[in-house]
Amino acid sequence: MEYQRYLAARTERIRPGRQTSVNLPGLINMGSGTPDFEPPDFVFEAMRKAVDERQIQYTLWAGTTELREAIAVKLERENRFTVDPEREILVTSGAQEALMSIFMALLDPGDEIITPAPFYGVYGEVAHILGASLVPVETTVESDFTVTADAVRAAITPRTKALVLVSPNNPTGTVLPEETLREMAELALEHNLLVISDEIYEHYVFGSHRHVSLATLPGMRERTISIYSLSKGYALTGLRVGYVVAPAPLIEAVLPFHHAMTICASTVAQSGAVAALREPRDWFDPILAEYDRRRRLWMTMLDGLGLVYGEPQGAYYVAFDVSPTGLSSAEFSKRMREEAGVILGSAGANLMRGSLMQASPQFEEGLERIGGFVKSLR
Ligand SMILES: Cc1ncc(COP(=O)(O)O)c(C=O)c1O
Repeated sequence: MEYQRYLAARTERIRPGRQTSVNLPGLINMGSGTPDFEPPDFVFEAMRKAVDERQIQYTLWAGTTELREAIAVKLERENRFTVDPEREILVTSGAQEALMSIFMALLDPGDEIITPAPFYGVYGEVAHILGASLVPVETTVESDFTVTADAVRAAITPRTKALVLVSPNNPTGTVLPEETLREMAELALEHNLLVISDEIYEHYVFGSHRHVSLATLPGMRERTISIYSLSKGYALTGLRVGYVVAPAPLIEAVLPFHHAMTICASTVAQSGAVAALREPRDWFDPILAEYDRRRRLWMTMLDGLGLVYGEPQGAYYVAFDVSPTGLSSAEFSKRMREEAGVILGSAGANLMRGSLMQASPQFEEGLERIGGFVKSLR
C-alpha cells in the first residue's frame, strides 16, 4: 500500500527518527547521551512505595502538589530563585515534552527564535514542525563555542520572539559565563524578548566554571522560561520527568498543550522525582570527580592527536573538529564505527560529539581506538 498520500506535509519537514543501537557486541559507544551511573536507591524506594500504595491515577495536570513543592525548595536551594509552586511550575514528561509544549504555546508560522550553534537538534525540529525558524548564531570550536552579544544582536529581526540558551550545552560542553548571561539578559530586555533557558545539565560543571540560572539575573525572572529535568543529574532518563518554571501567565499558556499531549507526567515517576529532589546531592560528588577524570583523558587524547576541541566545561560532551583528517563528520563516524568499533555522535558538518558516559575500562579502550583510527588516516 502507498502511504504517502495519507501523510501530513509536515512529515517532509522533519528528519526521520532513527534510534542507533548502542549495545552492539564489540562496539564501544563513546558518544552516549545517557549517564552511566546507577541512580540513587531512594528513588526506587519511593517508586516502590507509590506502586504499593496504588498511586496510579492521573495527577493534577501541572504535577502533584508534593512534587511542585519539592521543586520550589530545590530551586531556592540550588538555583537561588523563588517561585510560587502552584502557579509557576509545570511538571512535564521530560524536558523534551517541555520544549515541544513551550514552542507550541509561543510560536506562530514565520516566527523566529535564536540560538547559538551547534545546538540540540530537537529545538530546530520542533520550530520547523510549527512552521517557525530556529535562527542559528554560529560559534567556532577554536573559541570554545563562545557566543557574543553582537552576534546575537545581528540575528534579531521583528519576527524574533525568544532566545534559546542551553547551558551547560549539548553538544558543545560549553558553560555560559555569568558575564555572557548578563549580556544576553540585556539584549532580551533591550529587544523585549523571552529567553528559554535549558538548564538540564546544571549538575555537570567542571573546574572553575559555574552554573548560573538565567532567571536570577536582574529583570529576567519575568521573561525567562527555565527548563529542568531529572534525566541527566540523577541518571533517570527513562523516568521521563522534567519541569518548566515560568511566570504564571506563561505556564497557563503552555498547560493546554501539555495536557493535549500527555495529560500529566507518570504518577509513579513523579513520586520518584520527589524523593530525588528532597535528598541532598552529596552522593553525586564522587561521580562528578570521575567524569572530571574522563574529561581530562579526552583532552589529553585530542591534544596528542592535534585535533581542535571546545573545552568541555560542563554537561558531559566534548565537541572536536575532524576536518584535519579530510573526512566529514558523517564519513568519520561511519568509518570509525566500521574500522575501529567506536560510536561517536555528530555535532556538525566537521564536528564530532564525544561523551564522558562510558565506564572504565571500555572508556580508556574507546579513547585508544579513536586515537589509533585517527593515526591510521595519516
Ligand atoms: C539540551 C537538551 N534538552 C532537552 C533534552 C531532553 O531531555 P529529557 O530526557 O529530559 O526529555 C536533552 C536530551 O538529551 C538535551 O540534551
